[in-house]
Amino acid sequence: MTLIDGSTAAGAPAPVREPILTAKKLVKTYGRVVGLDGVSLELYPGEVLAIIGDNGAGKSTLIKCLTGAEVADEGEITLDGKPVQFKRPQDAHAAGIETVYQTLAVSPALDVASNLFLGRELRRAGLLGSVFRMVDKKGMRKRAKQELSDLGISTLQDVTVAVENLSGGQRQAVAVARAAAFGSKVVVLDEPTAALGVRESNQVLQLVKNLRDRGIPVILISHNMPHVFEVADRIHIQRLGKCAATITPQSHSMTDAVAIMTGARKA
Ligand SMILES: Nc1ncnc2c1ncn2[C@@H]1O[C@H](COP(=O)(O)OP(=O)(O)OP(=O)(O)O)[C@@H](O)[C@H]1O
Ligand SMILES: [Mg+2]
Repeated sequence: MTLIDGSTAAGAPAPVREPILTAKKLVKTYGRVVGLDGVSLELYPGEVLAIIGDNGAGKSTLIKCLTGAEVADEGEITLDGKPVQFKRPQDAHAAGIETVYQTLAVSPALDVASNLFLGRELRRAGLLGSVFRMVDKKGMRKRAKQELSDLGISTLQDVTVAVENLSGGQRQAVAVARAAAFGSKVVVLDEPTAALGVRESNQVLQLVKNLRDRGIPVILISHNMPHVFEVADRIHIQRLGKCAATITPQSHSMTDAVAIMTGARKA
């Protein structure tokens, strides 16, 4: 039994929550421009951490350093408590960090199931698979259906449909499902709702919540305050290359967040 103060009835100390991913004092400069000026963050299991900030505040640079698209000049990144050095996006991907970009998230001409398995296709059993590299279409479709229904994506039951025929929100859903389907440790979403309508945005936000409920932590970059306040457990506010504050939707209002973001108010 867990008591309100977090201790257990037997008097044993409550387990300490260890972050999955941490960044410590990351610095990244581009010539004379300082992209990141000593930024730290911690991502805990099963949380949605939003990153907000004005244009040029360093959000993308921070994410790029965490996902191997850029290498920080200084600072340390740990995954599961161990220091990691990602030199390329593939390094971060192999370590379990999935990044979903607004564009390039999916291959339009392929069907939903093929997109889910892109680069990790299931092969047919026996020689057909091992020698002739024939893909197991039936198996992939079955597993794709299962993954989508596990994630509560109900608008997308026909996995044989080409992704180019899907709506923007459904495409985004396929990209997020792909990230969720392969035992990722961390999912990073870069402006996932920027180009979407109200209904589609809601679908993607629901998906983010489903990921969290499955225990997969999500980092969400967004300019959309209502979306951020709806799904985030904590909000990291970037300002001029630094972390100005880390707040929660309970501790601060949207107006407070914008004031901190623009420097009108101290945290
Ligand atoms: N490749 C680059 N070369 C030079 N300067 C860069 C480069 N990438 C980023 N910067 C600079 O680093 C700073 C942080 O940029 P970053 O793209 O991280 O901002 P952002 O918070 O993602 O902004 P936005 O909301 O506009 O996407 C900016 O001053 C930007 O001009
Ligand atoms: Mg950016």
